[in-house]
Amino acid sequence: MQKESTNTTPQINRPEPIKFKGEIATFKGKTDISEPIETLLSGGYVLVEGLYSNGLTLLSELQSNLKKKHPNQSFKEQRAYRSEFRKLSNLILLKIYNNKLVVRKAPEIGWLEKLYPESDEFLLPFPQVQGLNSAWQWYFNGISIPVLRNKVHPYYGVYFPTRFEHLILFDNWLKRYEGPKKSAIDIGIGSGILSFQLMKYGFQKSFGTDLNPNAIIGLTESMEGTKLSRKIELDYGHLFGKWEKPTELIVFNPPWLPASHDINRLDEAIYYNDKLFPEFFEEAKKRLLSDGKIVILFSNLGEITNETKEHPIKYELEKETRFELDLFLKKSVKNASDKTKRNQHWRATEEVELWVLKHKDLT
Ligand SMILES: C[S@@+](CC[C@H](N)C(=O)[O-])C[C@H]1O[C@@H](n2cnc3c(N)ncnc32)[C@H](O)[C@@H]1O
Repeated sequence: MQKESTNTTPQINRPEPIKFKGEIATFKGKTDISEPIETLLSGGYVLVEGLYSNGLTLLSELQSNLKKKHPNQSFKEQRAYRSEFRKLSNLILLKIYNNKLVVRKAPEIGWLEKLYPESDEFLLPFPQVQGLNSAWQWYFNGISIPVLRNKVHPYYGVYFPTRFEHLILFDNWLKRYEGPKKSAIDIGIGSGILSFQLMKYGFQKSFGTDLNPNAIIGLTESMEGTKLSRKIELDYGHLFGKWEKPTELIVFNPPWLPASHDINRLDEAIYYNDKLFPEFFEEAKKRLLSDGKIVILFSNLGEITNETKEHPIKYELEKETRFELDLFLKKSVKNASDKTKRNQHWRATEEVELWVLKHKDLT
């Protein structure tokens, strides 16, 4: 039995084209740079012409200008600097024509064709173009994941892992798993990695969800015409989406840090709100077969960075009567390189966790 999905067709998330009619100041590289900087500081757009690198020059000039304006190293001042830089750098524009950047010596960015099929001419902020460019490199070249044979090609705006200890934990657990393998639900499927691992160990079906439309659009596209498209079914939705039928396995690699009130922390792949875990456990209770298992991949990052004193899975096990612990595994995360370690002492104690929960036996 399936519930109708509450959400309709996913609409792609992409940098929005700038709608601007009228005269725009330009920067061609050879002209005096103080003029376009003045325009930016007064809130006006500047269109980069000539070479792509002119955009980089303007960006770095804007950066040094704002650094002079905010010389103080205090947290507040640095935050003001970052916020102003973010705002003003997005006024630097590039023109796209026929799905290509108009400037010379520009990178080839396939997203311009994929994400904007309907537009033949438009403007985008320079930093957004830089984001599209690096995302294209990840997508085009793919990333190797130690537990998977094939590379993963993360779609624009979709989470993908850059460290793999938690995936190794899950892989080791799957290797020893002896329960039924008819179906599993993969909450927050992202680039599909956990479901690919499930397939590797012989699961017949995985029902994935994500509230990021790009995750659903990207996976649908990458699986099209392959046998995976019959084995991994997708729904664009919150938590379990339309998947109602109980399964023997529910897997969830949730965000690992509690959301604070800082408005820049809205990334739902990384930050969770107060309601996410209680709601997940409540819904999971209804969708787990009587001898089924829930596997949650988590980390002590929230605890060791002092973001929270509360661990949402420990909380569930201690305070609620829905589930009990079946197995707990942890693995320390490789130390960051010496360069980054200096500022991140806590990295030394970072551990990823694999929690296996089952229905609580109340007899
Ligand atoms: C840390 S990522 C994990 C992605 C993937 N499962 C993996 O292991 O690589 C968390 C994912 O959960 C999704 N997500 C966050 N909150 C969600 C919710 N309430 N319902 C569905 N998906 C959610 C995010 O968009 C993101 O793709």
